[in-house]
Amino acid sequence: MTQASAQDLRWLDAAVRYATSFLGTTGDNPCAAALLVAPHSQSLIARAVTARGGRPHPEALALASAGFDAAGSTLYVTLQPCHHWGRTPPCADAIVRSGVMRVVIGVADPDPRTAAAGVARLESAGVEVVIAEHAPSAALHAGHLRHRTNARPYVTAMLVVSPDDKIVSPTSGMARDWLDLQRSRSNAILIGAAAARCQNGPLAVALPGLQARTPLRIVLAGAEGVDRSLNLIGGFSGYRTAIIAESSVSVDAPVSVEVIRVKGALGRPNLAASLAALAEKGIQNLLVEPGTRLTAAMLQAGLVDCFGLITTSQAATDGPPASSSGKVAELIATAGLVQTERQSHGAETLSFFRRPA
Ligand SMILES: NC(=O)c1ccc[n+]([C@@H]2O[C@H](COP(=O)([O-])OP(=O)(O)OC[C@H]3O[C@@H](n4cnc5c(N)ncnc54)[C@H](OP(=O)(O)O)[C@@H]3O)[C@@H](O)[C@H]2O)c1
Repeated sequence: MTQASAQDLRWLDAAVRYATSFLGTTGDNPCAAALLVAPHSQSLIARAVTARGGRPHPEALALASAGFDAAGSTLYVTLQPCHHWGRTPPCADAIVRSGVMRVVIGVADPDPRTAAAGVARLESAGVEVVIAEHAPSAALHAGHLRHRTNARPYVTAMLVVSPDDKIVSPTSGMARDWLDLQRSRSNAILIGAAAARCQNGPLAVALPGLQARTPLRIVLAGAEGVDRSLNLIGGFSGYRTAIIAESSVSVDAPVSVEVIRVKGALGRPNLAASLAALAEKGIQNLLVEPGTRLTAAMLQAGLVDCFGLITTSQAATDGPPASSSGKVAELIATAGLVQTERQSHGAETLSFFRRPA
């Protein structure tokens, strides 16, 4: 297997940028991109991302759009092409039939149905294969990789805090937009029942044009149980809701709301078991919007892969504390997450802390 060139990495960067704006639209399938490039002229022949809902895969769409022009080209894909019959035929076979001569893969797929056999299938047909171990592709597919290797979703937690470490409502423009963008890129949003009761809002994406990307909203019920008096459960919004509840607690919800029963203790579902149940339902990217206690519980259980901390400029003095167990920045550090990104807009900052690879 050969190495990726600087030119290869630039095409993969372009593929990742293209796919990123479709995150959250591909259901239980990874949001991947495929570019077909003419090797001599370095011109783009065709491009595609995973279709809405997850199928067809981008390789199949790009090959169909290129037709005979695919022969002799290089295919750049952010994720290794599938090699198994699922609801669509194997992409590796379609690539071989198309006459593509070289495939540059951003990140290998740990799915055992695809893993080594997919590369072997391509190489045995004379197609050159490069696995670039491209960090932006791995970041794009963090949800799929976490799902396949740990049987749980990739968990991003997001919290808006004041400089004095109090939870504040993201009413202003930028904090609201940052949160909404993350919501729109997730397969589901999870909120604790206590926070859902305090806010009693729709937990929807409000960004103009992206409202339809509001994902599944999940209420994590505690010992008190939950009922349809909560807007998220009984109100009509046009968006789906599910409830995770420990087996013994009472839940009163319309039939349109899915109730996921999970083992736990003292009426609270076990958090790891809750994530495993969501993975079984195909959820790869989960956004948690925790309150005081859920922040501490998720971080202390080692279940947060990425923490997005939005800091506002004004002290809040009377708001709830960001965490029930010390300062939130210290909890994040103790959980082994390190700062990887910082954006600021006026007085507001968004810092992402991630688990090192
Ligand atoms: N401004 C915002 O955007 C925002 C966002 C989130 C929260 N908040 C604020 O945060 C405050 C709520 O914080 P909170 O600490 O009461 O609620 P929380 O952190 O959101 O979550 C705790 C809730 O989850 C339940 N739960 C179920 N299983 C659990 C488990 N394994 N571990 C921990 N909790 C579990 C708890 O049940 P039990 O009751 O049985 O413990 C409780 O209802 C409110 O003031 C809210 O407005 C604000």
